[in-house]
Amino acid sequence: MIRIDGNIAKLREAVRCLRKGSGSIGLVPTMGYLHEGHLSLVRKSISENGSTVVTIFVNPLQFGPNEDYEAYPRDLEKDCLLLEKEGVDIVFCPKPEDLYYPDHSTYVVEERVSRDLCGASRPGHFRGVCTIVLKLFLLIGPDRAYFGEKDFQQLQVIRRMVRDLNVPVEIRGCPIVREKDGLALSSRNVYLSPSERLSAVALSRSLKAAKELYDSGEKNAGKIIGCVQEELLSDPALRVEYIELRDAEELSVLETVDKPAVLALAVRVGKTRLIDNVKLGEVEA
Ligand code: PAF
Repeated sequence: MIRIDGNIAKLREAVRCLRKGSGSIGLVPTMGYLHEGHLSLVRKSISENGSTVVTIFVNPLQFGPNEDYEAYPRDLEKDCLLLEKEGVDIVFCPKPEDLYYPDHSTYVVEERVSRDLCGASRPGHFRGVCTIVLKLFLLIGPDRAYFGEKDFQQLQVIRRMVRDLNVPVEIRGCPIVREKDGLALSSRNVYLSPSERLSAVALSRSLKAAKELYDSGEKNAGKIIGCVQEELLSDPALRVEYIELRDAEELSVLETVDKPAVLALAVRVGKTRLIDNVKLGEVEA
């Protein structure tokens, strides 16, 4: 595995060599502190491409002023060992100054799919995500790029950006990886105290109950959301930011689940903001 710590010319050269050697290139963009969820994306990319590039970059542009940019967990050496073991070809781990000019003034903004849900409570977040993801696409030129469905809105915003800007890359969404008790894997789970960790299981439990309700024939969005609310509001340690049932592509509001949909939520457990979701009906991967 070649590790490139930030030199863009070196990255371009290494990618050029990869392309000559072994067919398609898969890209897995990450912010590091890797867990089994990230590794599932890496394995998928390795199985579908001649070579795989992983990026590790905690992108300051997607964090708000009062968010956890500084505190975001980092362990670059361990991450690189994990990626080497998986058989990744290149890991690119730049610092902010390697990617952003001090006076950078160009951004990528998606204006519809990014508007609500996390976009409403994290202004500028998706602008930061789209800007870095497009930069990585331009730097690496992957044939396919892999994103987890835990960040379902992010996945759909990126799909929309790629569609609207004719970016020649195939976006692949990969299923959420969960702990045994159902908690969706996230680098931020490390922030949870033992009692918060117990409370956090309610997110996946409530989504599971709602999915069962849907599968038993309930199609009324209000009733399905009510089922999640009931579970989450019963624990005072949880502060619900949103519970939304949306069309799975544009993320527009649904009253009745008559097409593929996603039930998504964001909840604060103590100081930690967690998100999770479940798909209702068949949704494109
Ligand atoms: O999902 C993430 O880890 C980040 O938002 C991403 C896609 C790597 C962009 O910084």
